[in-house]
Amino acid sequence: MKRIFFTFLTVIQLSYGVIYRLNDSEYLRMPPLYYIEDYDSCIYQQNGTYCYAGIDLVSDTPSELLQMIHEYSEHTTTHYNHTHINHGICLTKTCKQFIQGNKTVDRRLVLERCLNESLWRDYKLKSRVDRKIFCRTLDDTININTGDIAAAVFFTLIILLNVIGSLYDFYYVKEGEGNRFLLCFSLKRNWKKLMSQGTGDQNRERLKGFNGLRALSIMIVILSHAPMLIVLIPENPHGLEKTYYDISFHIFYNGTLIVQTFFMMTGCLMAYNVRAYAEKNELTWTMIPKGIMLRWLRLTPAYAVMMIFSMTCMKFVGSGPFWQDNVGVHIYDCYHYGWWNIVYLNNYIDNSQCMVEAWYLASDMQLYILGLFVCILAKTARSRKTVLPTLYILGFFLPGIITYLMDLDDVHVFPETFRYYFIGNSTFNHSFKPGHTNIPNFIFGLAVGNLIYEGLKDEKKVEKFKKLGFLYHLTFPTGLVFLLCGIVFYGDRPRPSIYIRAVAACLMRPVFGLLLALIFIGMVFKFESLYRRVLEWDGWQIPARLSYSAFLIHVSIIRTFLGMKTTLSRMGMVECAKEASAIIFITFLIAYPFWLFIEAPLNQAILNIFNLSNKNKRNDKAPNDKIDKIKEQSEKISVIELDDDGNKNKHEHMRL
Ligand SMILES: *[C@@H]1O[C@H](CO)[C@@H](O)[C@H](O)[C@H]1NC(C)=O
Ligand SMILES: *[C@@H]1O[C@H](CO)[C@@H](O)[C@H](O)[C@H]1NC(C)=O
Ligand SMILES: *[C@@H]1O[C@H](CO)[C@@H](O)[C@H](O)[C@H]1NC(C)=O
Ligand SMILES: *[C@@H]1O[C@H](CO)[C@@H](O)[C@H](O)[C@H]1NC(C)=O
Repeated sequence: MKRIFFTFLTVIQLSYGVIYRLNDSEYLRMPPLYYIEDYDSCIYQQNGTYCYAGIDLVSDTPSELLQMIHEYSEHTTTHYNHTHINHGICLTKTCKQFIQGNKTVDRRLVLERCLNESLWRDYKLKSRVDRKIFCRTLDDTININTGDIAAAVFFTLIILLNVIGSLYDFYYVKEGEGNRFLLCFSLKRNWKKLMSQGTGDQNRERLKGFNGLRALSIMIVILSHAPMLIVLIPENPHGLEKTYYDISFHIFYNGTLIVQTFFMMTGCLMAYNVRAYAEKNELTWTMIPKGIMLRWLRLTPAYAVMMIFSMTCMKFVGSGPFWQDNVGVHIYDCYHYGWWNIVYLNNYIDNSQCMVEAWYLASDMQLYILGLFVCILAKTARSRKTVLPTLYILGFFLPGIITYLMDLDDVHVFPETFRYYFIGNSTFNHSFKPGHTNIPNFIFGLAVGNLIYEGLKDEKKVEKFKKLGFLYHLTFPTGLVFLLCGIVFYGDRPRPSIYIRAVAACLMRPVFGLLLALIFIGMVFKFESLYRRVLEWDGWQIPARLSYSAFLIHVSIIRTFLGMKTTLSRMGMVECAKEASAIIFITFLIAYPFWLFIEAPLNQAILNIFNLSNKNKRNDKAPNDKIDKIKEQSEKISVIELDDDGNKNKHEHMRL
């Protein structure tokens, strides 16, 4: 019996080959991957019901076509899974004869029966409709629950505070003194802060180029997310699958490495700031919990506001065939898993679609905590020399080991993974987003930060780097070529062996990190002036300040646009460029008010609340310099912003 079973298995395995390419005429034999009927004309019919469903293609009899579809779908690196299609159907029109006036029918069964008929007629295939289908009629109303009301009150309060704060500042505050809490909400002051240029500190001035890096990186992140508007609902999936053979698209597909820039910058600036601080103060372990707390307070308010918006207001924004699949799911998951985001552990849970992109914030927070331990406990040059390399080597091998043990891929930007927002892709889950696999570049960043600090004190220490000369100019082209080289992972061939994948997983991040380090060093010490001039351009300051706001809102904007679409999108370079520029523009357009009315005021208000409580304590008791000192310490080290305008509230500035 066992043997028969085994033979059976091998037969199945043998009979399932892999088809790498199909010509267009063969491709069109498959049922369309995405197909939607007109939404509005359906919904506005009497009793009109529109359903959007995922459908598995099945067959009761051996089907040559189904076999072909299976074999084509088997090459997951560049092909969608064509056995699972998504159709939006007007139930009350297309499937009329299956309803027959029965108003209490099971919509899923009707849809399945209806599809069974049409698929059989056109393709000699049958269907199995997903358990969960999204149907909508005009009568469906959205329930307003207490959460929505609470959110409405909350947002009204924020608007009121902003109005009152602004008016108060405008009419009553004469010499810049007044109620500090209300002044946090002053539009005039926040606008000034947003627009302020430069710092007095000479050394800080040398780090100015990080603004450019931050602004450019955030734009690239948005740019690479914008095509979601196309790749999630392609009219021509074949066109999309072909882009994997077009090298220019690999900037998108391998651009995932760009977030390493942020990890590296976090490390670099953290090390720099801790060293600068340690000049005049003593580092004590109590700074660790305080640093974590202040960092949490810095990042969370704006993030939480976005989350509250997602859970409540967003559901009233729109509707459309794709609404539930792209926005509804996000709202639902934020309700149920959103708290993982707020404690910055969402990168370790795999099934939540609540702000998937915020895995970065969680990872960054985890690395930040690691960095606090490293910077504060390894104070001396000698201890740094052992701790940093040890951690680096550990971080270097970890992704490879995980890839090897869990049989992961080295890349993960496959059609089928972005179709589901990367949910369920084990490479993304276990190798890309956890904090521990992103250690190497963060630790490398710490080392570079120390080097920068020492170099700025004494240029002799970095003299040897000057000799690299033209290598600095090569960093950008090398980086570009490196990203484009990713095309080798997407060829027409079986998966590479596990050893190749593991080695690639080890090397990708560190190589990119090396290039970044060269850019950092060349920029800060002025060994190189082409990129430095670009990065130090004053115009980057404002987008850099807005970068955290922009990061928080951009995917929600994309999801909302996606949900309101009523047609499929065409894939192509021009369309991608169009969507990308539109989304970047709109994101920054919304980031301005988001920063001015939410991020900046809330951050300052929270700091002030803490300051005030401190002050009260001081009034109650004897003057306590020590508490103040510790507070100041932790405040400073949690500020990894560059902008340090001597203002006491340093937290409001850019930070991603
Ligand atoms: C597509 O491929 C099939 C089978 O390989 C072949 O019969 C057909 O002629 C091809 N069509 C075109 C337009 O090349
Ligand atoms: C395609 O999707 C179907 C149903 O969702 C699944 O059973 C099948 O394993 C998938 N195929 C591949 C190659 O992943
Ligand atoms: C309507 O459909 C439901 C469920 O499919 C069934 O139980 C009921 O008998 C049907 N009613 C009529 C009038 O056909
Ligand atoms: C549709 O066809 C499939 C495959 O034959 C079958 O399993 C399923 O029950 C059919 N659905 C309905 C509602 O008849």
